[in-house]
Amino acid sequence: MIHARTTLRLQADAAGEAQAARILREGGLVAFPTETVYGLGADATNPRAVAGIYEAKGRPRFNPLIAHVASLEQARREGTFSPLAEKLAQKFWPGPLTLVVPLAETASVCDLARAGLPSIGLRMPAANIARDLIAAAGRPIAAPSANRSGHVSPATADHVLADLEDRIDAVLDGGACAVGVESTIVALLDDTPRLLRPGGVAREDIEVFLGMGLAGAEPGDSQPLAPGLLASHYAPGASVRLNARELEPGETGLDFAGQFAGAFDLSPSGDLEEAAANLFSALRTLDASGAMRIAVAPIPNQGLGEAINDRLARAAAPRP
Ligand code: TXA
Ligand code: MG
Repeated sequence: MIHARTTLRLQADAAGEAQAARILREGGLVAFPTETVYGLGADATNPRAVAGIYEAKGRPRFNPLIAHVASLEQARREGTFSPLAEKLAQKFWPGPLTLVVPLAETASVCDLARAGLPSIGLRMPAANIARDLIAAAGRPIAAPSANRSGHVSPATADHVLADLEDRIDAVLDGGACAVGVESTIVALLDDTPRLLRPGGVAREDIEVFLGMGLAGAEPGDSQPLAPGLLASHYAPGASVRLNARELEPGETGLDFAGQFAGAFDLSPSGDLEEAAANLFSALRTLDASGAMRIAVAPIPNQGLGEAINDRLARAAAPRP
């Protein structure tokens, strides 16, 4: 399923960074070093590029990805910063802290990168190579850790290649990562700051700085803490019928590979990466159209089809 690509090993000099930024702007996949671990980067505004991340990692479901930014101004265009969020960013950025905040109206990050959530995880990495690359790409860069799904996070370019050689376009080799564990994730979605994942910034340092404790995650906040609960965040208003062979009266079709006549098709040519890129905007569009019942054509359960079917199954699950 994966496009065969030869993975370039780029040096972390001006020429290597410029080439890496060019590949990102063109929708390619570039692994790059941050101070925590190597990230597998793609243009966060391009759903096709983001679908490539899931394909390369072999992720069986769409987790929200961290959008990496080069400056606080860029972060403020993507997310809405409360005074508390602003305070944490001023103190701990650049660095191994991810802030989950409400999505801003001016946001450019695509639905697929956020797994359809109305919030966004933002991080400004401390590693200069990473910030230079993001600035040169000129857009937020979505990046999970650059390993195959289920494997450990990579701290060197060799670790990245061991997992992702020929599945990504390039790795920018900046040597070993200094921190070696992922970023701490704090959600600032209401008045209560919540620790979603411990990581490179100690919880105590945040609590002492804020003069208050961090609450735990609420069910549904974070995929690793509460897998499976995330989907209810973006279920369409319509009821959803899966594996439909034909449309029944009153149903609106969500098609794949031309199985229904005249319905919106996630990928007329049957390309699962294209279907993944279209999935969240299709659900949104169908919802906005006032459709009451959505019938979804069968989608092969292989490659990205597994993540697509996981998402659709949750959209079709009974609502609370
Ligand atoms: O250090 C790190 O954070 C590394 C480097 C590459 O930056 N990245 C990383 O990404 O660890 P990943 O995809 O392995 O983990 C991202 C975590 C996931 O657990 C995801 O659920 C959470 O961030 N996350 C991202 N956006 C979120 C959101 N809007 N709401 C809740 N959780 C979110
Ligand atoms: Mg990871």
